[in-house]
Amino acid sequence: MPSSDAPSSSIRGSQLASDFTVSLDIDRRMYREDIAGSIAHAEMLAKQDIISESDAASIVEGLRKIQDEIESGEFEWKPDLEDIHINVESRLYELIGEAAGRLHTARSRNDQVATDARLYAKRVAAECRSACRQLQRALLDRAEENIETVVPGYTHLQRAQPVTFGHVLMAYFEMFGRDAASFTQAETSADVMPLGSGALAGATYPLDREFVAERLGFSAISKNSMDAVSDRDFILDFIFATSKTMTHLSRLCEDIVIWSSEEFGFIRLSDAYSSGSSMMPQKRNPDFAELIRGKTGRVYGSLISVLTTLKGLPLTYNRDLQEDKPPLMDAAVTTLSSLTAARGMIAEMTVHADQMAAASEGRAILATDYADHLVRDGGLPFREAYVQVAAHTRGEATGNVDFPEISAADSLAARDVPGGTAPSRVREAIINGYGDLWSARLGGEW
Ligand code: ARG
Repeated sequence: MPSSDAPSSSIRGSQLASDFTVSLDIDRRMYREDIAGSIAHAEMLAKQDIISESDAASIVEGLRKIQDEIESGEFEWKPDLEDIHINVESRLYELIGEAAGRLHTARSRNDQVATDARLYAKRVAAECRSACRQLQRALLDRAEENIETVVPGYTHLQRAQPVTFGHVLMAYFEMFGRDAASFTQAETSADVMPLGSGALAGATYPLDREFVAERLGFSAISKNSMDAVSDRDFILDFIFATSKTMTHLSRLCEDIVIWSSEEFGFIRLSDAYSSGSSMMPQKRNPDFAELIRGKTGRVYGSLISVLTTLKGLPLTYNRDLQEDKPPLMDAAVTTLSSLTAARGMIAEMTVHADQMAAASEGRAILATDYADHLVRDGGLPFREAYVQVAAHTRGEATGNVDFPEISAADSLAARDVPGGTAPSRVREAIINGYGDLWSARLGGEW
C-alpha cells in the first residue's frame, strides 16, 4: 500500500514508483491461497515429469515452512517485493535455493493471481453464507418467542394493520435465506481453475490441469486462457451478493433504530450493542445498527469500483486488475462483521411486548378488519364499507351500520392464509424455517 503521507519531493523516483505499484498490504491476506496454489502446481509439475520429485518435495516443504512463518508472525514482509506472490517466492529462494526457481515453470503471475483470488472468493463466500445462516437462526429463535406478540405493521411508516412480531422477524429470515443462496451462486462462479493459462495463451508443457483443479477443490478448469487471466466476474458476483446482504442488513438496522427509539420503545438493545452519550446520560445510542447502515455505502462503493475497473480493459491481463482486491476484501470483511453484529443484536435484544401491544390498540389500525366485516357480514360493496369505516374510525355516527368489537388478536387470527400473519401460519413458517436451516446444515452450508 502506498504510505498515507503525500509523496514528498525527497522521495526518490524509484521509491515512489514502488510505493505506487505495491499491493502487499492487501494481497498478503490471501497467503494461504497463494501457498496452496503453488503446492498443487509443484506437485503437478513433478507428476508430469516437468520437474524432479526431489525439487518438488523441497518446494513443498519450503512453502509449508513459509506458511508457518507467516502464521507465527516471524515472516519478514518486504514491500519492495511488491506483492504476496513475489514475497513468497523470494523467501522460498532463501530457504531452498535454486530449486525455488523451478516453481514458476509453466506459470505466470497472471494465472497465479487469478487462481488465488478465486480461492479467496470461494472461502469468503462460504463464510458469508454461514454467517447468513447463523443470523437466520437467531431470527428464528426470536420469532418463535414472539409468535403471538402483537405489533403494528407499517406502510409508509404509518400504522397499517396489526401483525405479530414473529411475522416481522420472519420477513428478515426470508431475506437472509435469499442472501445465503446468492453466496452459493457467487461460490459457484468462482469455482473455476485458471492455472495453466500462463500469461495469456496457455503453456508449452504437458500440464495436468484437472489434477491441479482437484487438488485445490475446484470443480472445473477454465476454458479459454485469455478469458481466464482477465475474468473477474466472480468478484462482481461476490460483491453483488454482499451488497444485497448489506441492503437487507441496513433495512433491519433502520427498523432496529426506530424500534429502539424512545418514541417507539418496542425493543431495548443490550449494552454490548449500544453506547451511552458522552454528554447526555439518558441516551442509549444504537451505534452498531447505525454503523451497519453506514457501512452499506462502502460495500456498494466496492461494487461500483470493480465494475468501473473492468469496463475499459482490453484483453487480457492489465495491471488495473490489481485494483480488484481492495474492494473484494473490504466487502468480505465488512459484510462478515456486519452479519455477526446483527446476529448478536437480534439474539440479545429485549422485546417490550406491552409497548408493542399498546401501539396496536385503537380503531384506526383495525380499519381494514371493520371494512372486511361490513363486506362479509353486511353485504356492502368494499368501497362503501371503506367510507363507513373512515367515519367510524374518526368517531363519527355511522347511522344504521353496526360495528362489532374486534380485537387485534381477532385481526391477526383472521389473516389465515399461507404466508399470512395468523399465529398458526407464523408457527408453520417457523417450523419450515427450522427444517430449511437443518437441511442447509446437513448440506454443509454452515
Ligand atoms: N499484484 C498483481 C495483481 O494483483 C499480480 C499480477 C501481476 N502480473 C503482472 N503481469 N504484472 O494483479
